[in-house]
Amino acid sequence: MIEVMNEPKRAPAPMPAREPVRRVGPPPAGELPALLIEHATKRFVVGRKKKPVVAVNDVSVSIRRGEIYGILGANGSGKSTLIRLVSTLLTLDGGRVEVFGHDIEREEMAVKQLINRVSVDAAFFKKLSPHENLAYAARLYGMDAKLARRQVVEILGRLGVGEKRLDRPVEQMSRGMQQKVAIARALLTSPTILLLDEPTTGLDPRSKLDVQTFIEEVRDTHDATIVLTTHDLAEAERLCDRIALINDGRVVAEGTPDELKTLVARDYGKEPTLDAVFMTFTGRSLDDDVDEAKEDDDE
Ligand SMILES: Nc1ncnc2c1ncn2[C@@H]1O[C@H](COP(=O)(O)OP(=O)(O)O)[C@@H](O)[C@H]1O
Ligand SMILES: [Mg+2]
Repeated sequence: MIEVMNEPKRAPAPMPAREPVRRVGPPPAGELPALLIEHATKRFVVGRKKKPVVAVNDVSVSIRRGEIYGILGANGSGKSTLIRLVSTLLTLDGGRVEVFGHDIEREEMAVKQLINRVSVDAAFFKKLSPHENLAYAARLYGMDAKLARRQVVEILGRLGVGEKRLDRPVEQMSRGMQQKVAIARALLTSPTILLLDEPTTGLDPRSKLDVQTFIEEVRDTHDATIVLTTHDLAEAERLCDRIALINDGRVVAEGTPDELKTLVARDYGKEPTLDAVFMTFTGRSLDDDVDEAKEDDDE
């Protein structure tokens, strides 16, 4: 193969032909899912404890291109582990994952170009400005720094963040703003699937709404498929086209927010609220975990 000097090191993976997106519902027969997870299982053996923790237990979901898909669960239910499996940071103990038909184990490079994970604490050099951080990321991805800068200004501009805010140290920005820059950085590589692990956890209410609006705009302006984890019912209801409820590593219910609410009202005689849905399927309340969940993420 001939190497062309100025080309990015990694050639883009072939993308499926674009077709109109109808966001709600699983992919119909014949359509390649953006993300397919089948019987995914992950166990952790901790210390001398003989019994492993089954963090992700036989999880299967199929996500359509253009969906915002929510993984809703209490602290410790396996959300981050699932996200890490999909982003190839952890290896599967069982099952398989495909991103637009590419197997994450056999075609890891192709998959890495199509997905990007944004974790709660965005890994930034806090003394440097967003511009400097993004230039660094661009170099890492083999992109031209000037081009990357232009793209970032354009992405953030389109999403309502002015250029002059990008030149002061990251540590001086609000957490909400940092989260937006982190998401914009993830868009630099034109990922088709964004994995957002608790994107609004720990944010004040105003920044939270702001980041939620930003996520919707990203979906609409970038043809992105977004998988987000949350333990915030209102967030799941507002943002997600479909939701998987996860409890002790298992998916215990899945559907659109309305489907899930209708289901508990009809079959269980509960109030048609997402709170009632959660209680019905997990036997626990999400509120109990909100405080601990802040310390939860490790990266
Ligand atoms: N690296 C790890 N080593 C050992 N146990 C882990 C590790 N990561 C997660 N776990 C365990 O797996 C379970 C699910 O954790 P996690 O995926 O972080 O949940 P969530 O993101 O929903 O809070 C928890 O019991 C947690 O203690
Ligand atoms: Mg987590």
